[in-house]
Amino acid sequence: PLPVILDLDPGHDDAVNILLALSSPELRVLGLTTVFGNVGLERTTHNALVTREIARSDVPIYAGADRPLVLPRISAESVHGASGLDGPHLPAPTRSTEPEHAADFIIRSVREHAGEVVLVPTGPLTNIALALRLAPDLISKIKRIVWMGGSTDTGNWTPAAEFNALADPHAAKVVFESGVPLSMFGLNTSHQAIANPARVQLFRKLGTEVGEFVAVLLEFFAEHHRERYGWEGGALHDPLTVAWLLRPELFQMQKMYVEIDTSAGPNLGRTVADVWHVTGKPANAEVALGVDADGFFRLIAERIGNFG
Ligand code: BDR
Ligand code: CA
Repeated sequence: PLPVILDLDPGHDDAVNILLALSSPELRVLGLTTVFGNVGLERTTHNALVTREIARSDVPIYAGADRPLVLPRISAESVHGASGLDGPHLPAPTRSTEPEHAADFIIRSVREHAGEVVLVPTGPLTNIALALRLAPDLISKIKRIVWMGGSTDTGNWTPAAEFNALADPHAAKVVFESGVPLSMFGLNTSHQAIANPARVQLFRKLGTEVGEFVAVLLEFFAEHHRERYGWEGGALHDPLTVAWLLRPELFQMQKMYVEIDTSAGPNLGRTVADVWHVTGKPANAEVALGVDADGFFRLIAERIGNFG
């Protein structure tokens, strides 16, 4: 199995990504690392512990950065509720986090399995940037970074910027300029993956505890998207990453140069994506331009069904 580390800020869609990864035999999840983001670090870490409990997994969890590298912290309670995981009943975790810092765990694991580990961040890129700065040897040892964030077109937190990119644009810049092979799944693709009521039913119909947990998560997540965008469900952003590792044929990808705007002003956090290769700069990322949304939801439902 492919060794992966999920770096996240759960978050409804992050939680679904954890469940998708833990139920997929192609992957060996070495650990979950948490970062501030949708809510503060204490809550995102708690939510990772809760999700592990739901999955009845013993994957280790490491807490990481509680704030961005440079800017003040932002958060997204307006989307995910005060807990970061509003909607379902959240069982009290029976186990705690490991003492090591997320960035140190990433460094140790990547060195132990040099050339093999895929990092899957679905929040601000702070932990990954810290790891790259603390241990520049990681640049040649990380197999790939597969990030949900950014967009080839418009943002969702400002007109220009997607939330994960805006939450730590300086960290995103470190990652995008690192030279590590990089895949980006941005809003331009995640807005094609709407968890409409029929797709929510795929999970409810499983008739299992985990299936119902996902269905209730998606129903809460739909509310913000109905109000803001007029859509019939939430955009299931984060699981695009793990789904691509499992079933790349569901996606259209294109290599291109992506630059992170860190200038103060209306473009802060924008992932300026050279879709038409007008800069002539060599590609530093492969970027998702499309997804087979029905195939994507079928895949997740099938895997969530593995929990029984
Ligand atoms: C991203 O921001 C968060 O709210 C979601 O979990 C996702 O990672 C979408 O912009
Ligand atoms: Ca997230």
